[in-house]
Amino acid sequence: MIDIQIYDTTLRDGEQTPGVHFGPRQKLDIAFRLARTGVDILEAGFPASSPGDAEAVADIARASGEGRLGDMTVSALARMLKADVDAAAKAVAEARRSRLHIFIATSDIHLEYKLRISREECLSRIRECVAYGRNLCREDGHPAFDEVEFSAEDATRTDPDFLAEAVRCAVDGGAEIVNIPDTVGYTTPDEFRRILTDLREKVPGSWRLSVHCHNDLGMAVANSLAAAECGAEQIECTVNGLGERAGNAAMEEIVMALRVRRDALRRNGEEMVCRVDPREITETSRLVASLSGIAVAPNKAVVGANAFAHASGIHQHGVMAARGTYEIMKPEEIGLNANTIVLGKLSGRHAFADRTAQLGYTLDAAGIDAAFARFKEIADKKSVMTDDDIRAIVGEYLDSREGKYYLETFQIQSGNHIRAMALVSLIAKDPGCADGEQPVVTEAAPGEGPVDAAFNAVNRIAGADGTLGRVELISYGITAVTEGTDALGEAKVKIRDAESGTVFSGRGVSTDVIKASIKAYLGAINKWTAMRTDSGSSRGTEE
Ligand code: KIV
Ligand code: ZN
Repeated sequence: MIDIQIYDTTLRDGEQTPGVHFGPRQKLDIAFRLARTGVDILEAGFPASSPGDAEAVADIARASGEGRLGDMTVSALARMLKADVDAAAKAVAEARRSRLHIFIATSDIHLEYKLRISREECLSRIRECVAYGRNLCREDGHPAFDEVEFSAEDATRTDPDFLAEAVRCAVDGGAEIVNIPDTVGYTTPDEFRRILTDLREKVPGSWRLSVHCHNDLGMAVANSLAAAECGAEQIECTVNGLGERAGNAAMEEIVMALRVRRDALRRNGEEMVCRVDPREITETSRLVASLSGIAVAPNKAVVGANAFAHASGIHQHGVMAARGTYEIMKPEEIGLNANTIVLGKLSGRHAFADRTAQLGYTLDAAGIDAAFARFKEIADKKSVMTDDDIRAIVGEYLDSREGKYYLETFQIQSGNHIRAMALVSLIAKDPGCADGEQPVVTEAAPGEGPVDAAFNAVNRIAGADGTLGRVELISYGITAVTEGTDALGEAKVKIRDAESGTVFSGRGVSTDVIKASIKAYLGAINKWTAMRTDSGSSRGTEE
């Protein structure tokens, strides 16, 4: 049997999904879940991109050093710069096992237009920085990294001879793992096989091959599996396929394809296996959806809500007669159980705290208090509370933490013959004022309907109407968390800063859809306000 290593980059490439930002606590929660899922290597972040990310990677490395993440390796991303390597070394210092993931673009289009360097300059940077990372030592003399991975960004659009030269330089410099990213999701399974086979022939040696596929043409998983068949020992992927643009290869799809089609997906006739426990897939997918605010499409393979739903009469009849007629995997295999009713309005704080911990969230005492208060408020109006309700409540709390504005009251006037008008009052938190004396600001605004009017009123209060800056609404949606007329409505909003283009998202839950919408909008506006006061963290991988 051939072992395929699963390298999860949800916390790095996944965080490059527009509108996604994981706080350090959220990153830790995802890291614990991924360790439990059986991921081999976790890319915890890109320490040189911001002090916040460096801290989050260090927190994960510490948890690993304390033995709380099993034997999962902690990896940190770095550009081909010594300062980036130093930042990565510092961040992963406490990990039980650490990896440097160092990258540079190798395609002519990236060299010429993005990096503005020649091929020779690219090779000399690889020689210098890979060796620097490989030989870097901590104060106690221990190597800063247990292993070094080199990535040739945009490898699939790189001249194959130059790609081989770049890889040779990295391997000579001490890289044990070579990652071939299909950065723009451009290759096809056959072409990718040819690229990888050609590279292996041109650069002999004991280096391990990894692949990292993006999904721009919907082929990320197929390309990753084709690569595994022709020798890739590591597949890089993300939970729910999060990532830049169309995302990365989805971890759950890779794992289930290797499992369900073990007969067909083979290398030289041998079966390929990975260590991920498929029964953890559902919980992991749900936690990442909740913490990222990016819902899983209902028709998404493996983890979509419809993945095991049979709508047509013919299909239903077939499944009732024999599940295998239309089901190639069983819901239990991916840990999918019926949405359990867990708590009700009589449940106490202790039971609520226990359940949130079981669902993978770590909240401090103040967080439990705040989320529990919302739980009680909603449980009063709703007869039963499910795990999905709890995820929505905790998700809203995490999005709204430490914001400047909180909803106090709102009134809406709307009808089919009048223009909608909203009167919104927000608490504008001032750290200099005592709790009961926080200032309340009220504004009225018209709009094309009650939700638009309420958002306009919030814009006026926060100065997002052009006074301090301007925001554009990119998306707004409301879904029922569970079924029934008393269902909790979960609103999701994405706005964009008109000047910088930075995207902010927010979530709100309530049994009242207008209230849920205002809360979601406030979540996003609070992040926008925070960016304006502290110019925010610089993320991304451009040099
Ligand atoms: O897509 C890509 O090329 C990357 C690299 C940093 C590995 O994410
Ligand atoms: Zn990528």
